[in-house]
Amino acid sequence: MDSMIKAEELVYDYVRRDEETGEESVIRAVDHLDLSIAPGSFVAVLGHNGSGKSTFAKEVNGILMPTEGVLYVDGIDTSNEEQIWEVRKTAGMVFQNPDNQIIGNIVEEDVGFGPENLGVPTEEIWERVNQALDAVEMTAYRKKSPNHLSGGQKQRVAIAGVLAMKPRCIVLDEPTAMLDPVGRREVIRTVHELNEKEKITILLITHYMEEAIDADRVVVMDDGKLVMDGTPREIFSQVEKLKSYALDVPQVTELAWELRKAGIGLPGGILRRDELIQALMPLLKGDRENGD
Ligand SMILES: Nc1ncnc2c1ncn2[C@@H]1O[C@H](COP(=O)(O)OP(=O)(O)O)[C@@H](O)[C@H]1O
Ligand SMILES: [Mg+2]
Repeated sequence: MDSMIKAEELVYDYVRRDEETGEESVIRAVDHLDLSIAPGSFVAVLGHNGSGKSTFAKEVNGILMPTEGVLYVDGIDTSNEEQIWEVRKTAGMVFQNPDNQIIGNIVEEDVGFGPENLGVPTEEIWERVNQALDAVEMTAYRKKSPNHLSGGQKQRVAIAGVLAMKPRCIVLDEPTAMLDPVGRREVIRTVHELNEKEKITILLITHYMEEAIDADRVVVMDDGKLVMDGTPREIFSQVEKLKSYALDVPQVTELAWELRKAGIGLPGGILRRDELIQALMPLLKGDRENGD
């Protein structure tokens, strides 16, 4: 099957030169990463600080070129300079801080910048702006200044700006890190809708475990390498292993795990509250009957 993103033995080294000694030091941020992401899938990328997630994201978006190995975005080799705009158009990128991405003074202008830079004809720009604002449910704010929006709304405008470039894939690098819980939910819901309705491939980098629960697939990076890969249930049932990579599990999963350790007969990998309640119900009922 074709891949939307395909990394083969991908490496990225940051090279630093000490100004006084002229000595070079190398930090290997991505270390022989092999990863293939199916078109239309929703993949969550987890990993503690410094594990190489952002570096990988920038390679996917063509901001950084591979030091070694190959990276294909929708079949295009990202190291091919002539195709770099094709790569950036295909894989849109949303960063942590919406304030650094929004440049327009009015929401609709901001969303139009991307397609304008791509040389899209004016009439089509407006069509795209309308569609993009509609998709993130920000049409009502189109004439407003981005300064007056909440963090979640700003991030949705940033997503609309990416959407207006008609990407096949969106890479979001901790897009909710600066948002309050309401803003976080808005953004995650928006991203899931784009995946479901528009079939856009989503690569969501996050350190909120809850945000990975509804992904098709979860991958864990550590020290530049891919160390875990599976469904959310497969990944989050390995609590000890995740902890060894300095990662948590969703709160409900943690609680179920603690209960299991205390000898309560629950299945592994419980992700959601209602699942935990379902699993606990027969146990609690049994207890009550025994007590009567
Ligand atoms: N611009 C840079 N120059 C030098 N080293 C960097 C730079 N950016 C990141 N690094 C290093 O690369 C490694 C991976 O960083 P990063 O990709 O930002 O990880 P993550 O996003 O998972 O926190 C870390 O050791 C980090 O210190
Ligand atoms: Mg990062």
